[in-house]
Amino acid sequence: MQLHSLMPYLLYQFKNEHELIKAIEELSLKFTQKRERLSDYLKDERLTSAYTAFYLTTNMPKLEAVFQWMPGEWLEKLKNCTLIDLGAGPGTFSLAFREWLGHSTEVIQIETSTLMREQAKKIWDGLYPNEPLIQAINSRINPHKEKFLLLGHSANEMGAELVSRYINEIEPDHILFIEPGTKTFFPEMLKIRSLLLSQNYNVLYPCPNASDCPLKGSDEDWCHQFIQVKQDPELERLSQMAKKDRSLLPLIVHAYSKKIKSKNAEVRLIRVLPETKFSFEWQTCELNKAEHYQIMKRGLDKPALNALEKTLAGAPVFVEVVEKMMENRKRVKIKLTTKS
Ligand SMILES: C[S@@+](CC[C@H](N)C(=O)[O-])C[C@H]1O[C@@H](n2cnc3c(N)ncnc32)[C@H](O)[C@@H]1O
Repeated sequence: MQLHSLMPYLLYQFKNEHELIKAIEELSLKFTQKRERLSDYLKDERLTSAYTAFYLTTNMPKLEAVFQWMPGEWLEKLKNCTLIDLGAGPGTFSLAFREWLGHSTEVIQIETSTLMREQAKKIWDGLYPNEPLIQAINSRINPHKEKFLLLGHSANEMGAELVSRYINEIEPDHILFIEPGTKTFFPEMLKIRSLLLSQNYNVLYPCPNASDCPLKGSDEDWCHQFIQVKQDPELERLSQMAKKDRSLLPLIVHAYSKKIKSKNAEVRLIRVLPETKFSFEWQTCELNKAEHYQIMKRGLDKPALNALEKTLAGAPVFVEVVEKMMENRKRVKIKLTTKS
């Protein structure tokens, strides 16, 4: 989505670029520092529009990147689902899903902010004038197909208890969380994970299996992923002016399904540690056990070195040869692939 194609559909028309940048900076401060008054932006037309201009456009590419990590069988299922976009905001992920799909589908947005609902409707009707959009303010909805519940940057505003209530009421078949990659949200995500596992959901991502998370209770580590996004030049310029890096995005992604039980990657890269002259050093989750992998550079050709250099936390890891060095530390050779 290009910024200029969205501008006509904003609720508030910014007088110039300077005014938009100031609003983005104000908003960013609310998300990172003044979180106690976070919800204020939802009642302010100018800030709602700034969210839409900046965060909708820079967050939209996340869905496609996240789908690259997901099992193909699951993606096929999602194509025949009703999308329930919970905490939809301006419709970031409804639009991303519609674009990914390439044709119309039933979309239900649940959103409590009146301004955000108005904003979402204005964009949707502008971009897809012949496709209905269903909007709701609570879980009393009536989807016609299998239910794909998506929460994008909204579970962290709601908290685990409220998210759990929504899940119990909606009873989705498939669930995807795309949340900020923050340490504060991670324990909430683990609470939601426990609830879902207790209700017989299968975890498809990121965990190798359903046993306890090795990072549960850790003060320093939390499981999060990174995606590298190529923003279009207009947005890159805006990000630079607002002093916000939107190319490398940390996120917490979790996916669950009642309908499929995919064979997960047995090892997930959870943190890229500083490399040495001789080796890459990775923290991994191996069948839900934290491990330290050392991958020696010697003997690897340039493409392999490049691929390893570019690998980000969140990627599946396929191990060819393992040599145990000591407890929780292994020297490994990696089979290079991009699919989980
Ligand atoms: C940060 S925005 C995310 C919007 C959009 N999903 C995105 O990723 O860009 C969070 C949204 O969650 C909505 N929200 C917060 N609590 C909610 C609740 N209890 N029910 C529905 N929506 C809620 C807020 O109104 C806000 O629009």
